[in-house]
Amino acid sequence: MKNNNLTLGEFIIENQKHYKYTSGEFSRLLSSIKLAAKIVNYKVNKAGLVDILGAAGDTNIQGEDQQKLDVYANNVFMQTLINREIVCGIASEEEDNYVTIKGKHGTNENKYVMLIDPLDGSSNIDVNVSVGTIFSIYRRITPIGTPVEQIDFLQRGNQQVAAGYVVYGTSTMLVYTSGHGVNGFTLNPAIGSFYLSHPNMSFPEDGKIYSINEGNYVHFPQGVKDYLKYCQEEKDDRPYTSRYIGSLVSDFHRNMIKGGIYIYPTSSIGPKGKLRLLYECNPMAFLAEQANGKATDGYKRILDIKPTELHQRVPFFCGSKNMVDKAGEFMAKYP
Ligand code: AHG
Ligand code: MN
Ligand code: MN
Ligand code: MN
Repeated sequence: MKNNNLTLGEFIIENQKHYKYTSGEFSRLLSSIKLAAKIVNYKVNKAGLVDILGAAGDTNIQGEDQQKLDVYANNVFMQTLINREIVCGIASEEEDNYVTIKGKHGTNENKYVMLIDPLDGSSNIDVNVSVGTIFSIYRRITPIGTPVEQIDFLQRGNQQVAAGYVVYGTSTMLVYTSGHGVNGFTLNPAIGSFYLSHPNMSFPEDGKIYSINEGNYVHFPQGVKDYLKYCQEEKDDRPYTSRYIGSLVSDFHRNMIKGGIYIYPTSSIGPKGKLRLLYECNPMAFLAEQANGKATDGYKRILDIKPTELHQRVPFFCGSKNMVDKAGEFMAKYP
């Protein structure tokens, strides 16, 4: 562990020099995310002791059964940002539509919108496996002081100002980029502060881990089946190791540290894939590229896709550059 005296708060202030318009608004936004993450972390760590496990009883816009912690995490992030009037709009995996933040006088002068997957890996909550939060920040494109519009949220991922995730794991970490590399901060729960523990995180160019839900194998496109056969072949440094947690945040985090590829492809049962472009793929793709990794939909760069709807799904191939390129070679045989 290096630089373990620098807190996330200090790091944010020191890095303000990177931003062209240093009004402090972006720094305050990151501080609000940090606060919400600590609140959710507190609850996640008490799961099993307090009544926070299990289904909430509703279905979200994605057609998924919401878990109590999905709803709780969504409320914490929404309320923390709304009460502090720190963004002008928020879109969430758990909300049907984006939320406009009006401010005290009916308007607000903030320039950022945030998109969020409040609780990633819902299916792992009840069994004490790591879950996460994913966030993505853009500068609005409609005029400041007017209500936000859908086009503020439907920007290409290459327009992101910042993106990151929190992983509530063996320790709780906040990992983020604002376009100047990726840095990871570990929460010291005794003190309640995040400390810079993983400066300049980077995917190894090659890896030996592949992460995919192989239970869906028969439904996968032929290019994915062929790539999996390649991963399993006994040749050179193969076979690779299969590791799949089922929480994108945790699978990504492990692969970034150890080297690997995460794939959630299209399939005959999910023709568009499963993961959401705005709340999951774009922020993870931005992080991946900032950490010398790569993210595609099997063919083209995720960050160049023009979104058409808030809850849009896309196939996702993400991780060590050479592995994503190799998977792409197999996909290209079946355009
Ligand atoms: P969420 O819990 O936010 O709905 O996301 C679940 C996602 C992702 O975290 C994970 O990698 C993937 O769904 C797992 O899907 P399968 O259970 O189909 O493998
Ligand atoms: Mn969900
Ligand atoms: Mn998710
Ligand atoms: Mn979620």
